[in-house]
Amino acid sequence: MRLVVNYQHLQTADIDDLGSLVSESFNAPDDIARPWIERSGVPNWRVVKDSTSLLGGLMVIPMGQWFGGRAVPMTGLAGVVVSPRARGRGVGKRLIGQTLEEIRDSGVALSALYASTTSFYRHCGYERAGAAYQVELNLKELTARSGPLEVRTLEAEDSERVEALQHDWVQDHACLKRGPYLWHRVRNPKGQAAEQFGFFSGDRLEGYVLWKRSEHKGLDNELQITDLVLTTPAAQESFWGYLAGHRAFFSKAQWLCPSSSPWLLALDEPWNYKMSMHEHWMLRLVDLQKAFTERGYPAGPPCEIHFEVEDPLLSNNNGRWLLRVGECEGRLTTGGEGLIKTDIGALASLYSGFLSATQLSVTGRLEGPVEQLALADGTFRGEPRLCDFF
Ligand SMILES: CC(C)(COP(=O)(O)OP(=O)(O)OC[C@H]1O[C@@H](n2cnc3c(N)ncnc32)[C@H](O)[C@@H]1OP(=O)(O)O)[C@@H](O)C(=O)NCCC(=O)NCCS
Repeated sequence: MRLVVNYQHLQTADIDDLGSLVSESFNAPDDIARPWIERSGVPNWRVVKDSTSLLGGLMVIPMGQWFGGRAVPMTGLAGVVVSPRARGRGVGKRLIGQTLEEIRDSGVALSALYASTTSFYRHCGYERAGAAYQVELNLKELTARSGPLEVRTLEAEDSERVEALQHDWVQDHACLKRGPYLWHRVRNPKGQAAEQFGFFSGDRLEGYVLWKRSEHKGLDNELQITDLVLTTPAAQESFWGYLAGHRAFFSKAQWLCPSSSPWLLALDEPWNYKMSMHEHWMLRLVDLQKAFTERGYPAGPPCEIHFEVEDPLLSNNNGRWLLRVGECEGRLTTGGEGLIKTDIGALASLYSGFLSATQLSVTGRLEGPVEQLALADGTFRGEPRLCDFF
């Protein structure tokens, strides 16, 4: 039976009920959920209720995402939950649907998330658009000596320049333009304050590393890196020296990274580190016109790509669209010949550069003449390098 639900902002009186739902659904300890909801900001939570009780909720995280050198406004979703007593009755889909409408009406073009259940989000128009990888490094074999830069503890007054360094350097395709939620996460992993060190040349910050200790395991501890930025060869050399200095009591270092990383070129042998896929992330094009117009594009001759898009949830995206690209900019207008036919999810995989139009045509979710596919392949090329977890 379909339930009648109301979508609304979380009220203070409902925090405990939402906390219980989160604990029950994610099998999280009771004392974690409420502080998490409060820390992430009660105004960032949305809930659905019927006439008597709270049935579900989620968190919205305002951020941006870099595409083609420009930051496109993006709202991340996390903590999506529906009461086990109301599941399988369309509540989750309506919660996401109404959140997407709110995101669109607020002028934000994109939404992204890490999914526990791909098929549920696929029903809501999200699709896989990239993946975060995990590096695990064998520290006992690291022989690097201390590098040329001074390693100093980062203090609260360094926060601004740390954030500025990260903002200026991490603008690769699909990377996040972080907001306060992400910064809090990397500085306080699992509620524990991270160790924070900067690599300095005089007073100039050239890189930094934030990390969390694992539980004590004798000589076999793990250094869990939550954030790492190295902007110069000297910062890189200093980072390796700093890590090697831990090898007596720490056997491993771990961090999330894109599928390739220039820093790893410093390691000689394949057994020095292991790389595995951590998790896919999914992207939703919420407002097609804004999403295609606010991003940047690779340099190349001007071109026109004709789409016909099907979006069962957000009708503003349905229909024929003409994308004109030139001088690294794009303009999307309604109309055109609808030569490339696709659904809103497959278009998200194309948009991020995760799959090309030609590759998507093999899945049956995108079709069009080869000339148009080739133009789309070139226009949306770029490896999606988002690896921040949220
Ligand atoms: C995932 C969750 C939010 C779905 O909520 P829900 O109200 O049961 O979902 P809906 O009834 O709206 O389902 C919408 C569609 O997704 C599908 N779906 C829902 N949950 C699914 C699952 N776990 N696996 C596969 N498909 C699923 C449904 O079959 C339905 O398809 P249909 O439209 O063809 O019938 C809910 O199961 C939940 O809270 N799970 C535990 C917490 C969790 O995993 N949250 C996600 C964190 S990223």
